[in-house]
Parts: sequence; C-alpha cells; structure tokens
Amino acid sequence: MRCKAIMQMHPSGWRRRGRRRGQRRGESRSSAETMKFVRFIMKNAALAAVPKHVDHFSKFSPSPLSMKQFLDFGSINACEKTSFVFLRYELPVRLSNIMKEINLLPDKLLTTASVQTVQSWYIQSLMEILEFLDTNPDDHQVLENFADALVTIRNRHNDVVPTMAQGIIEYKENFSQDPVTNQNIQYFLDRFYLSRISIRMLINQHTLIFDGATNPVHPNTIGSIDPHCAVAEVVQDAFHSAKMLCDQYYLSSPDLFMQEISSHKNQAVNIEYVPSHLYHMLFELFKNAMRATIEHHEGYHLPPIEVLVSLGGEDMSIKVCDRGGGVPFRKIDKLFSYMYSTAPAPQIGDHARTPLAGFGYGLPISRLYAKYFQGDLQLYSMEGYGTEAVIYLKALSTDSIERLPVYNKTALKNYKVRQEADDWCVPSKEPLDMAKYKKAK
Ligand SMILES: Nc1ncnc2c1ncn2[C@@H]1O[C@H](COP(=O)(O)OP(=O)(O)OP(=O)(O)O)[C@@H](O)[C@H]1O
Ligand SMILES: [Mg+2]
Repeated sequence: MRCKAIMQMHPSGWRRRGRRRGQRRGESRSSAETMKFVRFIMKNAALAAVPKHVDHFSKFSPSPLSMKQFLDFGSINACEKTSFVFLRYELPVRLSNIMKEINLLPDKLLTTASVQTVQSWYIQSLMEILEFLDTNPDDHQVLENFADALVTIRNRHNDVVPTMAQGIIEYKENFSQDPVTNQNIQYFLDRFYLSRISIRMLINQHTLIFDGATNPVHPNTIGSIDPHCAVAEVVQDAFHSAKMLCDQYYLSSPDLFMQEISSHKNQAVNIEYVPSHLYHMLFELFKNAMRATIEHHEGYHLPPIEVLVSLGGEDMSIKVCDRGGGVPFRKIDKLFSYMYSTAPAPQIGDHARTPLAGFGYGLPISRLYAKYFQGDLQLYSMEGYGTEAVIYLKALSTDSIERLPVYNKTALKNYKVRQEADDWCVPSKEPLDMAKYKKAK
C-alpha cells in the first residue's frame, strides 16, 4: 500500500516510462521491481538529506584516541558492541568534518570529474554508516552487517589518493594558479589525507580485531598495532623492498648500514606502533635515498645508506642518511609539496611497473603518517654532499595520540586567506642601476 503511494507520488520517470514490454494496462509490476524502485526513492531521499547530516556531524570535534587506548581496547576490553556504538558516531563525525573542507576547494577544482568521484564516495560511505544509527547494538546480525559495511567502505576508498591527485593534475593543467590557491590546496590535502589515514585506522582496528582470525605472520598484533614493533626489522624489510625496485631500475643499489641505540643497553628498539605505517615512511625514504645515491654517483662505488635508530625517554627517532648529493636549502620546503618531483612523471594507473619515484607524494604522505601519532618527519640536506631524513615518533604509547583535523572557524579562516603584499622586500634579480642615481645628483 505504502509502496504504491510512493510510486504514484514520484514525479519523474516511473509512470512516464510506461509499461514493460508485454505488460498490459492495469497489470501490476513484479515485487522485485517495486522494491528496486522503493530503494531508488529512499536513496534519493537519503541523498537529499546528506548536507543536513554533514552540517550536524561536522559541529562535533573528532575524538582522538591514543595508541594506549587502541591497545587497551583491543586487548583487555575487546567488545564489538562498544566499538560499534563508538564508530557509528565517530566515523560520521570524521567524515563530515572533512567533507565540509572538500566543499571549500576552489570551484574549478571541486567540479573536476575526479574530485566529484571522490566526493561521491564520501557521500555514499556517510549514508551507509548513518543507516546504523537507529539499529540495535545487541543484535548480532547488525554487528555483522556493520563489519561488512566497513569493509565495503574501505575498499571503495582504496583509490582516493591517486584519484584526488588526478583532480589536482587536471586543475593545474587547465587553470593558472596563484600562490595562495596553491597554499590552500596544500593545506587541504594535508588535512584530507590525514583524516583518511585516521578513518582507515579506525576501520582496520574494528574489522581486524572482531573478525575472529589471528594474523598468521604477526600473531601478537592487536588489529594493525604491534605492541612490540621491532623497529630494526621494519627497517630491514623496507630497505629490502626498496633495494629490489632499485636493482630493477638501475641494475645496482647501495647497501644498508644500521645502528641501534637504546637506553636499555644491548636491547633491540621496540615500540608500540603500527608497523605498516612505519614501513611506508621508511620505504619512501629509502627509495629517495637510493635514487639520489645512484644518480649522484652514476652507479660507481655507491656509498651505503646509513640508518640510526635511537630510543630515548620521549622520542624514538630514525635517521636515514645518504650521500646522494643533497638538495639546495631553498628547495627543502618544496619537497613536501604534493606533486613536486624531479623524476619523470609515471603513468597513473600503470600498476605493472611501480616506479622508484615520480608522483611527488612520497615525502608529504610519509610526513602525515609520522604526524598522525604526534611525530614528525624532517629533512636536513647539504647540497653537494647528501641528505638526512629523520622520523620522530613518540616513545610512549600514552603520548602517541591521534592528530586529527577539525573543521572550525580557524580552519575556515585558513581557506579565506587572500594574497597580501609581502612585508619583506623582494630582492631584485637585476643589478641596481647606479647610473640613474648619479644622474639624479
Ligand atoms: N634523499 C634525497 N636526496 C636528494 N633529493 C631528494 C631526496 N629525497 C627527496 N628528494 C627530492 O624531493 C623530491 C620529492 O620527493 P618525494 O619522495 O616526495 O617524491 P618523488 O620521489 O619524486 O616521487 P614519489 O611520489 O614516487 O616518492 C624528489 O623528486 C627529489 O627531487
Ligand atoms: Mg619518493
């Protein structure tokens, strides 16, 4: 009865499309078709309500979790129901906060096909989680459906980084940009990708902890966190992978020389951390260091890449040093810009040949992984000699707290910054014409 009413109410398509082939006037449609239509109507109604939901949830600040909370929650108090109740609220908050910022992008960027696609993924995922707001956490089926929905959402967002990158390329190719727009895009992308890292972390913890299986390679991990992450092992793994790529491209590669220093003498450095995040950062640093070393030494007598792992009371730091000729001081900040690369651009979507460099995302994304748990990644370089990249992480799990963007007046103000005159003189490239002053005397 209700379905019929909805069908009659609907102003477009359905009635006008007329009868199915072979269907006589007055003959009723199959219930499957009716249900399909009802779902279509409901989806459209839900879609129309999205801006209202985004406004509502973006008014709340995300709740950052500490590594200790992630660990405690996953080990002592592992309770799927509690996690579900937290996530069905926290995920819409994190999604909505960043969706507000997507809307602040320049129109010409926002309307590119790629950014539209990314935006549609966010809308779809938000709608799917909101469906669980009024469900019963005691119902086992609800929990199962929620875990399935999270997996679908995670898969949907797999290609967010290259798709967003494609949008930026389209925009940069077609429109001229001023430094302020570039600065806004850099500001946005840092926050957008950090938000994405955090959302994936929440989803991974829930799906890995409650799927009932243990990780065969790392049986002691809690979700994606290793409570005893052996830093040197991750260094070796990442180095090995980068070395294979390097050998493939350049037919040679530098060696690794590693040293560990811990306040507990003769003990390997262990921290509570997400090994995949650490691996990502190190892999990117090693690829960069290897490329610089090979190109600077043209394949002859390659000096090793030296790594120093040091654990103190507050910080766990990893220094990656190469003798690859370094970068001029003037360019250091630029290296963290998305898309800044001195390597030839690889083809997007060419998964067959993973390049050693080329997208210009290696450093900025690695720095976000470091910042995510209150760390940092810094580069020190001496042009003509080489580069030192240092990853700083928190030594204590109580200090490793998620760093999350929040949409508020300060964020808004950052997007509204206009180009103003510099309050420092801009040095002229031309030599001063002293003759002009002599004449004036
Ligand atoms: N250790 C290093 N020595 C010299 N130059 C470096 C070093 N690390 C980075 N760079 C410079 O910084 C640029 C940006 O590095 P980044 O890792 O972000 O991007 P990429 O290596 O070009 O591409 P990819 O996204 O594949 O990593 C590089 O193209 C290179 O010019
Ligand atoms: Mg790189």
